[in-house]
Amino acid sequence: MLSDPDAKERWRWAEEGRILEEALAQLAQLFGGEPTCEPDWDAGRVRSVLSQLALKLADNYPYFHPLYAGQMLKPPHPVARLAWALALTLNPNNHARDGGRATSQLEQECITRLGRLFGWESVLGHLTGGGTVANLEALWVGRELHPDCPAIAASTDAHYTHARMARLLGVPFILVPVGADGAMNLDALDRILDQTPVGTVVATVGTTGWGAIDPVDGLVARKDRYRYRLHADAAYGGYFNLIRERLSKAARLRLEAVSACDSLAIDPHKHGLQPYGCGAILFQDPTVGSVYQHESPYTYFTSSERHLGEISLECSRPGAAAAALWATLELLPLAPDGLFADHLWKSCCAARTLAGCLQAHPAWVILGEPELDILVFSTRSPRASALSRLNRAIFDRAASDGLHLALLTIPVGKARSTLPDLNPDVGEVTVLRACLMKPEHLEWGVRIFDYLEKARLATPVLE
Ligand SMILES: Cc1ncc(COP(=O)(O)O)c(C=O)c1O
Repeated sequence: MLSDPDAKERWRWAEEGRILEEALAQLAQLFGGEPTCEPDWDAGRVRSVLSQLALKLADNYPYFHPLYAGQMLKPPHPVARLAWALALTLNPNNHARDGGRATSQLEQECITRLGRLFGWESVLGHLTGGGTVANLEALWVGRELHPDCPAIAASTDAHYTHARMARLLGVPFILVPVGADGAMNLDALDRILDQTPVGTVVATVGTTGWGAIDPVDGLVARKDRYRYRLHADAAYGGYFNLIRERLSKAARLRLEAVSACDSLAIDPHKHGLQPYGCGAILFQDPTVGSVYQHESPYTYFTSSERHLGEISLECSRPGAAAAALWATLELLPLAPDGLFADHLWKSCCAARTLAGCLQAHPAWVILGEPELDILVFSTRSPRASALSRLNRAIFDRAASDGLHLALLTIPVGKARSTLPDLNPDVGEVTVLRACLMKPEHLEWGVRIFDYLEKARLATPVLE
């Protein structure tokens, strides 16, 4: 718990409160024409409940701090938090323009800007609760367009929800092995496609575990031969397209090829500085909107323009999410030479910095060069079972010292490609994983290594 007297100002949260107060006062003036109608709530009791809530919220890891590098969690930008809170005062619903007139327009603008990130000018899309629903919509559209050929193929390292969504859609789901780099193996895919018709192939642009990018360029090249739809799950990695010129040649080519996919999911609540839940689904061909066609006699009545509910699986959705994303894009445009891009690059450099520190020390090993800003690494031990216990013990020890990481369970064979002498006494091994998604992680890379070393030295050797 924060106990020092300056804690109130330390994270500038109080300053956010003051900015919000001014914006709320302005909004109240703008709605000053309506007759007064006092809402019935008791400010004293609200204050007291919020104070209780603050106590409960303290039971969280410090997600906003660089010492948190566990889950894929990036703090929303203050402008996003404030815009969300401001819009929430009106609580618009972006299902229909009737319920969310201004914010439907903002959502449309956000989708246009996200589309331009991939060179798509006349894109069809909308915001979603997150990557899972965005992917579901792409897979559903794929099934509706190719009912005769419904199977979905994705790599073994694709997000686990794809298999679940295939079950939900009632279509076969085919797993394609990955290569040593964690990306989909195209030879393996060809063998599958030669035997089984596949309606949609999912290319993961930045896997959750490793940050690997599937060979989207190779998948685009096969698209006509095998006649599949290509969906890019760029929920985590999509924003890196902005800085593709600074990445490896393979990453650049793979990211560049996303523009030739049929659809893509990108999560502003991952790298786009947004509060949960803000995902997005984009379709390159706007005519797929016909798949969503439905009758709704009670929703659309004040505008003849398209309502977002007409091209979305969900009905009600928060207009506040669009307001927050729009405000963020205004403040930090998606320009390759802008501040947003520089911050993304810093997170990649943070992963490289930590990788360099680990590689320079004989007690540590990295399991592959980081492509984006996720780093997978391990300490050393002769047997796989002992290595897992050791990594877990270091994970716990680091957490008790204030450094929060993630664990990743991988096939022992994968670990042996980096640790060839590892005795495979068990089939899987647990290694350490860091998501260095904050630009501040760059400054903290060396200090994070110091925390790791301290945790390792304090952990008894396990045989
Ligand atoms: C590549 C990828 N796809 C999909 C998802 C699911 O997204 P969400 O948690 O926003 O539903 C994730 C989440 O980490 C992801 O990394």
